[in-house]
Amino acid sequence: MEFRVKGGSPWKQRTGCVVVGLYEGRKLSPAAAALDAASGQALGAIVQRGDLEGELGTTLLLHDVPDVACERVLLVGLGRKRDFHETSYRTALCAAVKALRTTGAGEATICLNELPVNGRDGAWKIEQGVLAVMEGLYRFDSLKSKPPDAKRALKKVVFHVGDGPETAAGEEAIARGQAIAEGVVLARDLGNLPGNLCTPTYLADQARELGKRHGFKVKILEKKDLEKLGMGAFLAVARGSPQPPKLIVMEYQGGASGAQPVALVGKGLTFDTGGISIKPAHEMDEMKFDMCGAASVFGAMHAAALMKLPINVVGIVPATENMPGGDAIKPGDIVATMSGQTVEILDTDAEGRLVLCDALTYVQKYKPAVVVDVATLTGAIVTALGHIATGMFCNDDALAREVLEAGERAWDRAWRMPLWNDYQDALKSNFADFPNVGPHAADAVIAACFLSRFTARLPWVHLDIAGTASRSGADKGATGRPVALLAHFLAGRAS
Ligand code: BES
Ligand code: MN
Ligand code: ZN
Repeated sequence: MEFRVKGGSPWKQRTGCVVVGLYEGRKLSPAAAALDAASGQALGAIVQRGDLEGELGTTLLLHDVPDVACERVLLVGLGRKRDFHETSYRTALCAAVKALRTTGAGEATICLNELPVNGRDGAWKIEQGVLAVMEGLYRFDSLKSKPPDAKRALKKVVFHVGDGPETAAGEEAIARGQAIAEGVVLARDLGNLPGNLCTPTYLADQARELGKRHGFKVKILEKKDLEKLGMGAFLAVARGSPQPPKLIVMEYQGGASGAQPVALVGKGLTFDTGGISIKPAHEMDEMKFDMCGAASVFGAMHAAALMKLPINVVGIVPATENMPGGDAIKPGDIVATMSGQTVEILDTDAEGRLVLCDALTYVQKYKPAVVVDVATLTGAIVTALGHIATGMFCNDDALAREVLEAGERAWDRAWRMPLWNDYQDALKSNFADFPNVGPHAADAVIAACFLSRFTARLPWVHLDIAGTASRSGADKGATGRPVALLAHFLAGRAS
């Protein structure tokens, strides 16, 4: 997809389609009003027939509006003017693109950058515009025997930026948006791929591909390497599956050699049945999304490399399946982690923390400036925050602010959860140093407490993305979150 920014009058755009907004109550946006005036009030007259009220995300396609140069005009509903904010802007753009892709328009000029969005500047609107367009265009149909709409007319999107000059800042925003969008698409594709195809071995191959494409180093640690390192917790999870586990290590060197890297650690459960503590059958297919943390690490590294960020990043993915089987771990089993601490596995379904704890110990050999782990870790975070905010836990207040701000800039928001010592008491075992689960109050916090026992000497952030990484229902699929947050976090660190 090609993106441009361009000034000029909306009605003079020689393009397949001009996209303009309509607020609720049939109120024309400024660009829509300009088209209306140019067309001798034809646009306003059509709207007054009542085919579009302006409800957010609704659209109306018009052909041959008098005295406008383009072939089509797409009206998109913006909702109530005083409620219009970042999410509305993204929703309107996304809806516009979904309508555009059903038309034959090869090029569209989108005139929504003029809308005030909660004080956001022009560059933000362009970057988010690119992300919203890519979101609207996204399909995962490579596994359908007859992809429903292989023909895709839309090739070029122009963001109309009023009468101002096309700025270098605009081009920069497009490049940033495209890099992040590519990272998001990679994360969505990996997430959507089913467990029979997206295995730990497949993820390892994808990492090698990514390394080759960008020229960064990729190491894959095999089962025997994990045994040598003493990763008893990671290996315990892998035992139930015939698929060999992989510890994927990616080293992007954009910064000075020797500069401390940012470490990203992504949970890579290519399928989570729960193991012997097996999950109910209902919606279990969605546990193919249990590698979305890993996918977001891949996506963030892809985006960082595309942006050529002057920073070192090490990405670590413990990849395995969690399966029941004759050799699978049993409730009550006790294993030694790489850190030396022993864990009583009371629930084999709390496997994410088991693979992460060894990866978090391993990553310390890189002497990282900061470690961010990303994991679809608990159902409890979905109960707490739903599908809007990612749950964020952090052992350093300044770092917590940095992450929250990156999420705000990226419009990929996180919300801080407590990591108070008081919660640590829930992890008590009569037989090992501690168990992998507590008595099930505040499960998301207890999971973070478990991880904190492996990161005490590090500035560390834990992102629980169980609610934000994927959607259920009619829109079932991976979202690509929190690639945008991570990309902004890395960009902030690099500058
Ligand atoms: N992968 C799941 C968490 C999850 C749940 C992700 C729902 C997405 C949607 C994780 O491995 C898990 O099973 N967690 C358990 C932990 C519990 C046993 C303490 C959970 O949340 O139920
Ligand atoms: Mn589980
Ligand atoms: Zn899991």
